[in-house]
Amino acid sequence: MAAPATAPARPQARAGATTRRKFLTDIFSVIGWGIFWSIMGIFGWIFARFFFPNVLFEPPPAFEAGFPHEYPVGSVDGRWKDRYNVWIVHEPYGFFALDGTCTHLGCKPNWIEVEQKFKCPCHGSGFRKDGTNFEGPAPRPLDRYKIYLGEGGRLVVDRSVKFPGVPGKDSNELYPQSILRI
Ligand code: FES
Repeated sequence: MAAPATAPARPQARAGATTRRKFLTDIFSVIGWGIFWSIMGIFGWIFARFFFPNVLFEPPPAFEAGFPHEYPVGSVDGRWKDRYNVWIVHEPYGFFALDGTCTHLGCKPNWIEVEQKFKCPCHGSGFRKDGTNFEGPAPRPLDRYKIYLGEGGRLVVDRSVKFPGVPGKDSNELYPQSILRI
């Protein structure tokens, strides 16, 4: 016996299937384009970064540090510590500028006024007022920078000229030019 002929789909059901198919096609199309443009965006960003590399803006190596009379004799002044990592010391025999970087592993020692010494918070190195290392693991004195009188009588610290501390050596004797005598 012949199989009964299937009834033709009703126009309403066919229209529903078409709408569903179109809806799914649209969704996949949106997702596909979204992925495409995301990838293009990432490549575009990488490409743009190639033309605009990272630039590090550092403060200039030389800076004016005010007038000598602003530094009392015997003072260890940390007003430039945060910005330039420099301590200015004024002793009776002159001024000198210490690099505030520990010569052990590069931490930032603090000045302890009551003990008259710099103390490194990392591993306990101690430095005297003139930068000489005397306790802890630091192998050499603190470095110094050039300090001179600029135009108008202001102190200028030039961090592009460095006097590196040498183990066992007195920086005052080794680098008399690191001292500004006024
Ligand atoms: S970094 Fe200063 S003691 Fe180690």
